[in-house]
Amino acid sequence: MSKPKFYITTPIYYPSNKLHIGHTYCTVATDAMARYKRLQGCDVMFLTGTDEHGQKIEGAAKEAGITPQQFVDNIVTGPRGVLDLWKLMNISYDRFIRTTDDYHVHAIQRIFKRMHDNGDIYKGKYVGKYCKPCESFWTESQLKDGKCPDCGREVVDAEEEAYFFRLSKYADRIQHLLEDTDFLEPRSRVNEMVNNFIKPGLEDLCVSRTSFTWGVPVDFDPGHVVYVWVDALFNYMTALGFENDAHQDLDKFWPADVHFVGKEIVRFHSIIWPAMLMSLDLPLPKKVYGHGWLLLDGGKMSKSKGNVVDPYLLAEHFGVDALRFFLLRTFPFGSDGNFSNEALINTINVDLANDLGNLLSRTTAMVQKYFGERLPADRQWDESLDRDLQQMASGLRDEYEAEMERYQFQNALDKVFKVIQRANKYIDETAPWVLAKDMNANAGRLAAVLYYLLETTRICGILLTPFMPESMDKLFQQIGAPADCQTWESAAQWGALPADHISKGDNLFPRIDMEKALAELEEISAKAAEPAGPLVEVEPQLETPVDFDTFCACDMRAVKVKACEKVKKSKKLLKFTLDDGTGTDRTILSGIAMYYTPEELVGKTLVAIVNLPPRPMMGETSCGMLLSAVHKEDGQEKLHLIMVDNSIPAGARLC
Ligand code: MSP
Repeated sequence: MSKPKFYITTPIYYPSNKLHIGHTYCTVATDAMARYKRLQGCDVMFLTGTDEHGQKIEGAAKEAGITPQQFVDNIVTGPRGVLDLWKLMNISYDRFIRTTDDYHVHAIQRIFKRMHDNGDIYKGKYVGKYCKPCESFWTESQLKDGKCPDCGREVVDAEEEAYFFRLSKYADRIQHLLEDTDFLEPRSRVNEMVNNFIKPGLEDLCVSRTSFTWGVPVDFDPGHVVYVWVDALFNYMTALGFENDAHQDLDKFWPADVHFVGKEIVRFHSIIWPAMLMSLDLPLPKKVYGHGWLLLDGGKMSKSKGNVVDPYLLAEHFGVDALRFFLLRTFPFGSDGNFSNEALINTINVDLANDLGNLLSRTTAMVQKYFGERLPADRQWDESLDRDLQQMASGLRDEYEAEMERYQFQNALDKVFKVIQRANKYIDETAPWVLAKDMNANAGRLAAVLYYLLETTRICGILLTPFMPESMDKLFQQIGAPADCQTWESAAQWGALPADHISKGDNLFPRIDMEKALAELEEISAKAAEPAGPLVEVEPQLETPVDFDTFCACDMRAVKVKACEKVKKSKKLLKFTLDDGTGTDRTILSGIAMYYTPEELVGKTLVAIVNLPPRPMMGETSCGMLLSAVHKEDGQEKLHLIMVDNSIPAGARLC
């Protein structure tokens, strides 16, 4: 029998935003879900990626003095970029799409043309308001207090020739989809969509732009680029091979089982996305789940709030699994939640160090102390003491499953921790250390108590694996659970553990000293808040020695710039007329036109090597070379001419 399929996606991340714990939240949730489905035995496709086009990126790249492609490459594949973060956070995606991937770009062109050919995309004139940061067009009536209804920022007047998608045509079908099916969850988001967007009248959507170029070009109308959200939403299908040959999984995985998305982009996913799919007569995703935001001090996270929400810092400081766990244990997935370092440390101390960590370390330590690595097979049950724990642990998998199927991570984890707490209470009730005082009489009973604890730990460990994969591997190691005792099936089988290989390992979740950790974090954040310098790289020094005479054979002189001009046929060369102290002008050509304008150099005192053989360049002859310092800054080549004090006379030798 073939395995059930499960296709889950995260929103593809904008590389112009600073990655913070909020983005990590969404991706960690998707990862936990994907791992849970794999644990159940599904054939899972977990897609994530980056949304790399748009005006914002074009602007940010310009500001950084690099091309948009270089800009997105740095953030996606560069050090401590998106891919590095997902690796650190143990995100088990099956596919990563970049909207600048060739196959996606061409697919978007075909998709746009198909909707144009079927009459759903038409040319018109856009007049209205535009929110640059959100890349969203709004009508006057949609604004909130004259500002963008999504982010609350200023909007600007916009008017241009543009293509439109006939969103209005699909209003009734979308309303039915939202109100009469469980396409969109949680339910509260349905009311928001219907009341705020559909009931006031769904207007056609502007789906092309002409005021910038960093996007997918409309191939049949040069000058237009496809609206970034059309480009972005179709990633969920192009990544499987829709309108391209790069992948071949469309039949297998489409329609998606669920799109996890943040609440501010529910509108795009629950109105615009299904409407475009309807236009192309394609199956709709089974579900869109709009999760809440992580807030900081009650407000949205932002760059200005800085480093406190840097996922690298938090994961490195507290551990990847602890951070993953905290995010899904603490906040109900469908609602907003307030992030704080105190809450994070508290969760680690209470749930992980105290409840789970203690259960594991006390149990394995007692097994080791009283029996070594193997529990005797002769075990004596005590119905009245054992039944409650056994029933709770045996029934846990089904209760957990019911919550996970509804994406209620917090509730699922709550069920697991109720059992862990019950097991800790069971230790107090059965007092194994008292039983151990008389091993002759109590060995069988003690072995049974410890077995109950190990089995409970094993079952909880399986169900915690999607949240803390690495730590649960260690837990299985300590309780000696072989692979067939880590499966979904075995989570509902009481008595599966052989209990013949128990070893007390390291403490999985050490307690954190709240005050000390908060002080450390504050110090790190304060340091990081200091303006960070650019990432500078210099060439490694040469190791081959040069003898002194060879060095002295190089004649370096101070020279004064009398005139400087661009060389006509060259983009790079500047021609210098220099006073070198000999009374005869010296000409030097230098390939530095990208770094300086001629005017800013006239009158400066520079350093030239004057005894190099003359060199013909672009119809001129260069007699020498000007010295410069070169390095890289954020991956870009930088050059500075060596300028010396103007009081140094022309011709002075440098030695
Ligand atoms: N590029 C679009 C998505 C296109 S999907 C076809 C985008 N990118 S984003 O980088 O701005 O956001 C990525 C995800 O992170 C979104 O789901 C967004 O809601 C989520 N979050 C951003 N800040 C968040 C919090 N503070 N809390 C929780 N989720 C947050 O939107």
